[in-house]
Amino acid sequence: MKALVISAIVATTVMGASLIDEAKSAGLKPIPSSAKALEKLTSNLKNPTTAAKVELGKMLYFEPRLSKSGLISCNTCHNLATGGTDGMASAIGHKWTSNPHGLSSPTVYNAVFYSQQFWDGRSPHLEDQAQGPIQAGPEMAAPKAFVEGVVNSIPEYVTLFKKAYGKDVKIDFAKVADTIAVFERTLVTPSRYDDFLNGKKNALSKEEQKGLKTFITKGCTTCHNDIALGGTMQAFGVAAPYKHMNVGDFKGDANGMVRVPTLRNVTQSAPYFHNGQIATLNEAIKEMGRIQLGVDLNDQETAEIHTFLKSLEGKKPSIIYPMLPASTATTPKVDVHNN
Ligand code: HEC
Ligand code: HEC
Repeated sequence: MKALVISAIVATTVMGASLIDEAKSAGLKPIPSSAKALEKLTSNLKNPTTAAKVELGKMLYFEPRLSKSGLISCNTCHNLATGGTDGMASAIGHKWTSNPHGLSSPTVYNAVFYSQQFWDGRSPHLEDQAQGPIQAGPEMAAPKAFVEGVVNSIPEYVTLFKKAYGKDVKIDFAKVADTIAVFERTLVTPSRYDDFLNGKKNALSKEEQKGLKTFITKGCTTCHNDIALGGTMQAFGVAAPYKHMNVGDFKGDANGMVRVPTLRNVTQSAPYFHNGQIATLNEAIKEMGRIQLGVDLNDQETAEIHTFLKSLEGKKPSIIYPMLPASTATTPKVDVHNN
Protein backbone atom coordinates (compact mmCIF):
# COMPACT_ATOMS: atom_id res chain seq x y z
CA MET A 1 0.00 0.00 0.00
CA LYS A 2 2.77 2.37 1.05
CA ALA A 3 4.74 1.52 -2.07
CA LEU A 4 1.70 2.24 -4.18
CA VAL A 5 1.20 5.68 -2.61
CA ILE A 6 4.87 6.51 -3.03
CA SER A 7 4.91 5.38 -6.64
CA ALA A 8 1.81 7.51 -7.28
CA ILE A 9 3.60 10.55 -5.83
CA VAL A 10 6.71 9.81 -7.87
CA ALA A 11 4.58 9.44 -10.98
CA THR A 12 2.86 12.82 -10.39
CA THR A 13 6.21 14.50 -9.83
CA VAL A 14 7.81 13.00 -12.92
CA MET A 15 4.75 13.88 -15.01
CA GLY A 16 4.88 17.34 -13.38
CA ALA A 17 8.46 18.00 -14.47
CA SER A 18 8.00 17.11 -18.12
CA LEU A 19 4.60 18.78 -18.23
CA ILE A 20 6.13 22.06 -17.06
CA ASP A 21 8.51 21.92 -20.02
CA GLU A 22 5.69 21.00 -22.35
CA ALA A 23 3.55 23.90 -21.08
CA LYS A 24 6.40 26.33 -21.52
CA SER A 25 7.13 25.19 -25.04
CA ALA A 26 3.42 25.64 -25.80
CA GLY A 27 3.88 29.33 -24.90
CA LEU A 28 2.42 29.33 -21.38
CA LYS A 29 4.16 31.59 -18.89
CA PRO A 30 3.70 32.04 -15.14
CA ILE A 31 3.21 35.27 -13.22
CA PRO A 32 6.74 35.70 -11.84
CA SER A 33 7.08 34.68 -8.20
CA SER A 34 9.45 37.52 -7.33
CA ALA A 35 7.74 40.81 -6.48
CA LYS A 36 10.53 42.71 -8.21
CA ALA A 37 10.19 40.84 -11.49
CA LEU A 38 6.42 41.29 -11.38
CA GLU A 39 6.70 45.01 -10.78
CA LYS A 40 9.09 45.35 -13.70
CA LEU A 41 6.61 43.55 -15.89
CA THR A 42 3.51 45.50 -14.84
CA SER A 43 4.89 49.01 -14.27
CA ASN A 44 4.57 51.73 -16.93
CA LEU A 45 7.95 53.40 -17.38
CA LYS A 46 6.29 56.71 -18.29
CA ASN A 47 4.18 56.65 -15.14
CA PRO A 48 5.93 54.40 -12.61
CA THR A 49 3.84 52.71 -9.95
CA THR A 50 4.07 54.25 -6.46
CA ALA A 51 2.00 53.59 -3.35
CA ALA A 52 0.54 57.13 -3.46
CA LYS A 53 -0.67 56.71 -7.07
CA VAL A 54 -2.11 53.26 -6.42
CA GLU A 55 -4.10 54.49 -3.41
CA LEU A 56 -5.46 57.50 -5.32
CA GLY A 57 -6.15 55.35 -8.39
CA LYS A 58 -8.16 52.99 -6.23
CA MET A 59 -10.29 55.87 -4.93
CA LEU A 60 -10.95 57.05 -8.49
CA TYR A 61 -11.78 53.49 -9.59
CA PHE A 62 -14.56 53.42 -6.97
CA GLU A 63 -15.59 57.09 -7.54
CA PRO A 64 -19.17 57.35 -8.86
CA ARG A 65 -18.92 61.14 -9.16
CA LEU A 66 -16.75 60.63 -12.27
CA SER A 67 -20.00 59.67 -14.03
CA LYS A 68 -22.65 62.09 -15.22
CA SER A 69 -25.30 60.33 -13.12
CA GLY A 70 -23.12 60.33 -10.02
CA LEU A 71 -23.98 56.65 -9.65
CA ILE A 72 -21.65 54.68 -11.88
CA SER A 73 -18.00 53.90 -11.21
CA CYS A 74 -15.55 51.58 -12.92
CA ASN A 75 -16.44 49.13 -10.16
CA THR A 76 -20.10 49.08 -11.24
CA CYS A 77 -19.26 47.04 -14.34
CA HIS A 78 -15.84 45.72 -13.31
CA ASN A 79 -16.82 44.74 -9.79
CA LEU A 80 -13.68 43.63 -7.97
CA ALA A 81 -15.75 41.52 -5.61
CA THR A 82 -17.25 39.47 -8.44
CA GLY A 83 -14.22 38.58 -10.53
CA GLY A 84 -13.69 42.07 -12.01
CA THR A 85 -16.88 41.91 -14.06
CA ASP A 86 -20.66 42.31 -13.66
CA GLY A 87 -22.25 39.00 -14.62
CA MET A 88 -24.29 40.72 -17.37
CA ALA A 89 -24.44 39.39 -20.94
CA SER A 90 -24.27 43.02 -22.15
CA ALA A 91 -22.94 45.84 -19.96
CA ILE A 92 -25.47 48.23 -18.40
CA GLY A 93 -24.44 51.88 -18.03
CA HIS A 94 -25.79 55.45 -18.03
CA LYS A 95 -29.61 55.58 -17.96
CA TRP A 96 -29.71 51.78 -17.85
CA THR A 97 -28.42 51.66 -21.42
CA SER A 98 -27.07 48.35 -22.50
CA ASN A 99 -23.88 48.28 -24.59
CA PRO A 100 -24.91 49.31 -28.12
CA HIS A 101 -22.92 46.44 -29.67
CA GLY A 102 -24.19 43.92 -27.13
CA LEU A 103 -20.74 43.56 -25.55
CA SER A 104 -20.12 42.19 -22.08
CA SER A 105 -17.71 43.72 -19.57
CA PRO A 106 -14.44 41.81 -19.59
CA THR A 107 -12.58 41.33 -16.31
CA VAL A 108 -10.01 43.94 -15.26
CA TYR A 109 -8.00 41.37 -13.28
CA ASN A 110 -4.77 40.60 -15.18
CA ALA A 111 -5.70 42.95 -18.06
CA VAL A 112 -2.26 44.51 -17.51
CA PHE A 113 -0.76 41.47 -19.26
CA TYR A 114 -2.69 42.04 -22.53
CA SER A 115 -0.98 43.49 -25.56
CA GLN A 116 -4.31 45.07 -26.58
CA GLN A 117 -7.42 46.22 -24.68
CA PHE A 118 -11.11 45.86 -25.69
CA TRP A 119 -12.76 42.97 -27.54
CA ASP A 120 -11.58 44.44 -30.86
CA GLY A 121 -8.15 45.38 -29.48
CA ARG A 122 -8.54 49.07 -30.35
CA SER A 123 -6.63 50.38 -27.34
CA PRO A 124 -2.93 49.74 -26.72
CA HIS A 125 -2.77 50.02 -22.92
CA LEU A 126 -4.69 50.66 -19.71
CA GLU A 127 -3.89 54.40 -19.55
CA ASP A 128 -5.46 54.94 -22.97
CA GLN A 129 -8.29 52.52 -22.27
CA ALA A 130 -9.46 54.24 -19.07
CA GLN A 131 -10.31 57.46 -20.97
CA GLY A 132 -12.94 55.61 -23.02
CA PRO A 133 -15.58 54.45 -20.52
CA ILE A 134 -15.68 57.69 -18.51
CA GLN A 135 -16.74 59.63 -21.62
CA ALA A 136 -18.72 56.92 -23.42
CA GLY A 137 -22.43 57.73 -23.61
CA PRO A 138 -23.71 54.27 -22.65
CA GLU A 139 -21.16 53.90 -19.84
CA MET A 140 -20.34 56.85 -17.54
CA ALA A 141 -21.28 59.64 -19.99
CA ALA A 142 -19.07 62.30 -18.38
CA PRO A 143 -17.34 64.94 -20.56
CA LYS A 144 -13.66 65.68 -19.78
CA ALA A 145 -14.41 69.11 -18.29
CA PHE A 146 -17.04 67.60 -15.97
CA VAL A 147 -14.52 65.06 -14.61
CA GLU A 148 -11.84 67.74 -14.18
CA GLY A 149 -14.42 69.93 -12.43
CA VAL A 150 -15.32 67.20 -9.94
CA VAL A 151 -11.77 66.31 -9.00
CA ASN A 152 -10.51 69.89 -8.73
CA SER A 153 -13.50 70.93 -6.60
CA ILE A 154 -12.57 68.51 -3.83
CA PRO A 155 -9.52 69.71 -1.86
CA GLU A 156 -8.65 66.23 -0.56
CA TYR A 157 -8.25 65.00 -4.17
CA VAL A 158 -6.07 67.98 -5.06
CA THR A 159 -3.83 67.21 -2.09
CA LEU A 160 -3.61 63.52 -3.03
CA PHE A 161 -2.71 64.34 -6.66
CA LYS A 162 0.06 66.64 -5.39
CA LYS A 163 1.31 63.92 -3.10
CA ALA A 164 1.34 61.45 -6.01
CA TYR A 165 2.81 63.66 -8.78
CA GLY A 166 4.42 66.70 -7.11
CA LYS A 167 3.00 70.11 -6.22
CA ASP A 168 2.92 71.47 -9.78
CA VAL A 169 0.68 68.68 -11.09
CA LYS A 170 -2.01 69.68 -13.57
CA ILE A 171 -5.05 67.65 -12.65
CA ASP A 172 -6.61 67.07 -16.04
CA PHE A 173 -8.67 64.27 -17.55
CA ALA A 174 -5.63 62.29 -18.75
CA LYS A 175 -4.10 62.40 -15.26
CA VAL A 176 -7.29 60.93 -13.81
CA ALA A 177 -7.25 58.09 -16.36
CA ASP A 178 -3.50 57.50 -15.89
CA THR A 179 -3.95 57.22 -12.14
CA ILE A 180 -6.79 54.71 -12.43
CA ALA A 181 -4.54 52.69 -14.76
CA VAL A 182 -1.74 52.59 -12.16
CA PHE A 183 -4.21 50.99 -9.76
CA GLU A 184 -5.37 48.49 -12.42
CA ARG A 185 -1.73 47.50 -12.96
CA THR A 186 -1.78 45.99 -9.46
CA LEU A 187 -4.78 43.73 -10.17
CA VAL A 188 -2.91 40.50 -10.80
CA THR A 189 -3.95 37.14 -9.35
CA PRO A 190 -1.23 34.50 -8.94
CA SER A 191 -2.53 30.94 -8.56
CA ARG A 192 -1.34 27.39 -7.92
CA TYR A 193 -0.89 27.09 -11.67
CA ASP A 194 1.82 29.76 -11.45
CA ASP A 195 3.50 27.90 -8.58
CA PHE A 196 3.46 24.84 -10.83
CA LEU A 197 5.01 26.61 -13.83
CA ASN A 198 7.49 28.25 -11.47
CA GLY A 199 8.75 24.75 -10.63
CA LYS A 200 6.63 23.50 -7.72
CA LYS A 201 5.75 20.18 -9.29
CA ASN A 202 3.01 19.17 -6.87
CA ALA A 203 1.19 22.51 -6.86
CA LEU A 204 -1.38 21.08 -9.28
CA SER A 205 -3.20 17.83 -8.52
CA LYS A 206 -2.94 14.84 -10.85
CA GLU A 207 -6.35 15.70 -12.31
CA GLU A 208 -5.42 19.34 -12.91
CA GLN A 209 -2.19 18.28 -14.60
CA LYS A 210 -4.18 15.93 -16.81
CA GLY A 211 -6.47 18.81 -17.72
CA LEU A 212 -3.52 21.05 -18.54
CA LYS A 213 -2.14 18.31 -20.77
CA THR A 214 -5.48 18.03 -22.61
CA PHE A 215 -5.65 21.83 -22.90
CA ILE A 216 -2.23 21.78 -24.60
CA THR A 217 -2.67 18.72 -26.82
CA LYS A 218 -6.07 19.86 -28.10
CA GLY A 219 -4.49 23.12 -29.26
CA CYS A 220 -6.10 25.68 -26.90
CA THR A 221 -2.64 27.16 -26.27
CA THR A 222 -2.38 28.28 -29.91
CA CYS A 223 -4.41 31.30 -28.80
CA HIS A 224 -4.66 31.11 -25.01
CA ASN A 225 -0.99 31.48 -24.14
CA ASP A 226 1.57 33.74 -22.46
CA ILE A 227 0.95 35.01 -18.91
CA ALA A 228 -2.74 35.86 -19.32
CA LEU A 229 -3.65 32.75 -21.37
CA GLY A 230 -5.03 35.37 -23.72
CA GLY A 231 -4.40 39.01 -24.60
CA THR A 232 -3.59 38.86 -28.33
CA MET A 233 -5.70 39.26 -31.47
CA GLN A 234 -6.74 35.98 -33.10
CA ALA A 235 -9.05 34.74 -35.77
CA PHE A 236 -12.56 33.90 -34.55
CA GLY A 237 -14.79 31.23 -36.06
CA VAL A 238 -11.82 29.44 -37.66
CA ALA A 239 -13.52 26.09 -38.22
CA ALA A 240 -17.20 27.12 -37.94
CA PRO A 241 -19.11 30.29 -37.10
CA TYR A 242 -19.91 31.04 -33.45
CA LYS A 243 -23.49 29.90 -32.87
CA HIS A 244 -24.62 33.23 -31.33
CA MET A 245 -22.79 35.56 -33.74
CA ASN A 246 -26.12 37.22 -34.62
CA VAL A 247 -26.63 38.63 -31.11
CA GLY A 248 -25.26 42.19 -31.20
CA ASP A 249 -23.31 43.55 -34.15
CA PHE A 250 -19.73 42.84 -33.03
CA LYS A 251 -17.55 41.50 -35.83
CA GLY A 252 -14.05 41.90 -34.35
CA ASP A 253 -11.52 44.38 -35.74
CA ALA A 254 -11.21 45.43 -39.39
CA ASN A 255 -9.82 41.98 -40.20
CA GLY A 256 -12.38 40.10 -38.15
CA MET A 257 -9.84 39.36 -35.43
CA VAL A 258 -10.97 39.19 -31.82
CA ARG A 259 -8.92 39.91 -28.71
CA VAL A 260 -8.56 36.64 -26.80
CA PRO A 261 -9.85 37.03 -23.22
CA THR A 262 -7.82 35.75 -20.29
CA LEU A 263 -8.73 32.37 -18.85
CA ARG A 264 -7.48 33.34 -15.39
CA ASN A 265 -10.45 33.32 -12.97
CA VAL A 266 -12.67 32.28 -15.89
CA THR A 267 -14.86 30.35 -13.43
CA GLN A 268 -16.01 33.79 -12.20
CA SER A 269 -16.65 35.57 -15.50
CA ALA A 270 -19.83 33.91 -16.82
CA PRO A 271 -21.72 34.50 -19.03
CA TYR A 272 -19.08 33.86 -21.68
CA PHE A 273 -17.96 35.20 -25.06
CA HIS A 274 -18.08 38.83 -26.23
CA ASN A 275 -21.89 38.92 -26.16
CA GLY A 276 -22.35 36.79 -23.04
CA GLN A 277 -24.53 34.23 -24.79
CA ILE A 278 -22.86 31.14 -23.32
CA ALA A 279 -24.00 30.44 -19.77
CA THR A 280 -21.67 27.72 -18.57
CA LEU A 281 -17.97 27.04 -18.75
CA ASN A 282 -18.47 23.52 -20.14
CA GLU A 283 -20.51 24.92 -23.01
CA ALA A 284 -17.84 27.58 -23.64
CA ILE A 285 -15.10 24.93 -23.77
CA LYS A 286 -17.09 22.78 -26.23
CA GLU A 287 -17.99 25.75 -28.42
CA MET A 288 -14.31 26.77 -28.55
CA GLY A 289 -13.32 23.26 -29.63
CA ARG A 290 -15.96 23.27 -32.36
CA ILE A 291 -15.44 26.77 -33.79
CA GLN A 292 -11.72 27.37 -33.20
CA LEU A 293 -10.21 23.91 -33.54
CA GLY A 294 -12.79 21.91 -35.50
CA VAL A 295 -12.95 19.20 -32.82
CA ASP A 296 -15.91 17.87 -30.90
CA LEU A 297 -14.65 17.63 -27.34
CA ASN A 298 -16.39 14.80 -25.50
CA ASP A 299 -17.71 15.13 -21.96
CA GLN A 300 -14.59 13.66 -20.42
CA GLU A 301 -12.16 15.93 -22.29
CA THR A 302 -14.37 18.90 -21.48
CA ALA A 303 -14.40 17.97 -17.79
CA GLU A 304 -10.61 17.58 -17.80
CA ILE A 305 -10.12 21.03 -19.28
CA HIS A 306 -12.68 22.47 -16.86
CA THR A 307 -10.73 21.00 -13.93
CA PHE A 308 -7.57 22.66 -15.22
CA LEU A 309 -9.29 26.02 -15.79
CA LYS A 310 -10.49 25.99 -12.18
CA SER A 311 -6.87 25.90 -11.05
CA LEU A 312 -6.43 29.33 -12.66
CA GLU A 313 -8.51 30.89 -9.88
CA GLY A 314 -5.94 33.20 -8.34
CA LYS A 315 -5.35 35.09 -5.15
CA LYS A 316 -6.85 38.56 -5.53
CA PRO A 317 -5.02 41.53 -4.01
CA SER A 318 -6.77 42.45 -0.78
CA ILE A 319 -8.63 45.67 -1.35
CA ILE A 320 -9.87 47.88 1.45
CA TYR A 321 -12.92 49.79 0.25
CA PRO A 322 -11.77 53.42 0.02
CA MET A 323 -13.51 56.22 1.91
CA LEU A 324 -14.10 59.06 -0.57
CA PRO A 325 -13.87 62.76 0.34
CA ALA A 326 -17.03 64.89 0.54
CA SER A 327 -18.26 67.11 -2.31
CA THR A 328 -18.01 70.88 -1.93
CA ALA A 329 -20.18 73.82 -3.05
CA THR A 330 -18.33 73.91 -6.40
CA THR A 331 -18.60 70.18 -7.21
CA PRO A 332 -20.76 69.83 -10.36
CA LYS A 333 -24.28 68.87 -9.33
CA VAL A 334 -26.22 65.97 -10.73
CA ASP A 335 -29.55 67.03 -12.21
CA VAL A 336 -31.58 63.85 -11.83
CA HIS A 337 -34.49 65.27 -13.83
CA ASN A 338 -32.40 66.33 -16.78
CA ASN A 339 -29.44 64.03 -16.94
C1 HEC B 1 -21.25 50.45 -18.15
C2 HEC B 1 -20.27 49.47 -17.78
C3 HEC B 1 -18.82 49.86 -17.78
C4 HEC B 1 -18.22 50.85 -17.03
C5 HEC B 1 -18.86 51.85 -16.10
C6 HEC B 1 -16.81 50.74 -17.28
N1 HEC B 1 -16.56 49.71 -18.16
FE1 HEC B 1 -14.77 49.02 -18.72
N2 HEC B 1 -15.65 47.88 -20.12
C7 HEC B 1 -16.99 47.72 -20.29
C8 HEC B 1 -17.26 47.01 -21.54
C9 HEC B 1 -18.60 46.61 -22.10
C10 HEC B 1 -15.98 46.75 -22.11
C11 HEC B 1 -15.72 46.08 -23.46
C12 HEC B 1 -16.01 47.13 -24.52
C13 HEC B 1 -15.39 46.87 -25.87
O1 HEC B 1 -14.60 45.95 -26.00
O2 HEC B 1 -15.69 47.64 -26.79
C14 HEC B 1 -15.00 47.30 -21.17
C15 HEC B 1 -13.61 47.18 -21.33
C16 HEC B 1 -12.70 47.55 -20.35
C17 HEC B 1 -11.31 47.17 -20.32
C18 HEC B 1 -10.61 46.31 -21.34
C19 HEC B 1 -10.46 44.92 -20.82
C20 HEC B 1 -10.24 43.93 -21.92
O3 HEC B 1 -10.34 42.74 -21.66
O4 HEC B 1 -9.99 44.33 -23.06
C21 HEC B 1 -10.75 47.75 -19.21
C22 HEC B 1 -9.32 47.64 -18.73
C23 HEC B 1 -11.79 48.52 -18.57
N3 HEC B 1 -12.97 48.36 -19.28
C24 HEC B 1 -11.61 49.33 -17.48
C25 HEC B 1 -12.56 50.26 -17.06
C26 HEC B 1 -12.29 51.39 -16.18
C27 HEC B 1 -10.94 51.74 -15.62
C28 HEC B 1 -13.47 52.02 -15.98
C29 HEC B 1 -13.73 53.30 -15.19
C30 HEC B 1 -13.03 54.46 -15.65
C31 HEC B 1 -14.49 51.28 -16.73
N4 HEC B 1 -13.89 50.24 -17.39
C32 HEC B 1 -15.85 51.56 -16.71
C33 HEC B 1 -17.96 48.15 -19.42
C34 HEC B 1 -17.77 49.18 -18.50
C1 HEC C 1 -7.86 30.27 -32.76
C2 HEC C 1 -7.76 30.87 -31.43
C3 HEC C 1 -8.40 30.16 -30.26
C4 HEC C 1 -8.31 28.82 -29.90
C5 HEC C 1 -7.57 27.71 -30.60
C6 HEC C 1 -9.07 28.69 -28.68
N1 HEC C 1 -9.59 29.89 -28.29
FE1 HEC C 1 -10.77 30.23 -26.67
N2 HEC C 1 -11.09 32.13 -27.31
C7 HEC C 1 -10.54 32.71 -28.44
C8 HEC C 1 -11.19 33.98 -28.69
C9 HEC C 1 -10.86 34.95 -29.82
C10 HEC C 1 -12.16 34.14 -27.69
C11 HEC C 1 -13.16 35.29 -27.55
C12 HEC C 1 -14.35 34.96 -28.41
C13 HEC C 1 -15.45 35.98 -28.33
O1 HEC C 1 -16.02 36.11 -27.26
O2 HEC C 1 -15.74 36.63 -29.34
C14 HEC C 1 -12.07 32.96 -26.83
C15 HEC C 1 -12.87 32.73 -25.70
C16 HEC C 1 -12.76 31.63 -24.87
C17 HEC C 1 -13.52 31.44 -23.66
C18 HEC C 1 -14.54 32.42 -23.08
C19 HEC C 1 -13.86 33.36 -22.12
C20 HEC C 1 -14.73 34.49 -21.67
O3 HEC C 1 -14.37 35.11 -20.65
O4 HEC C 1 -15.74 34.81 -22.30
C21 HEC C 1 -13.13 30.24 -23.13
C22 HEC C 1 -13.63 29.61 -21.83
C23 HEC C 1 -12.15 29.68 -24.02
N3 HEC C 1 -11.95 30.54 -25.05
C24 HEC C 1 -11.54 28.45 -23.85
C25 HEC C 1 -10.84 27.80 -24.85
C26 HEC C 1 -10.46 26.40 -24.81
C27 HEC C 1 -10.72 25.47 -23.63
C28 HEC C 1 -9.85 26.12 -25.99
C29 HEC C 1 -9.37 24.79 -26.47
C30 HEC C 1 -10.40 23.77 -26.54
C31 HEC C 1 -9.82 27.36 -26.76
N4 HEC C 1 -10.45 28.35 -26.04
C32 HEC C 1 -9.25 27.48 -28.02
C33 HEC C 1 -9.54 32.17 -29.21
C34 HEC C 1 -9.20 30.82 -29.23
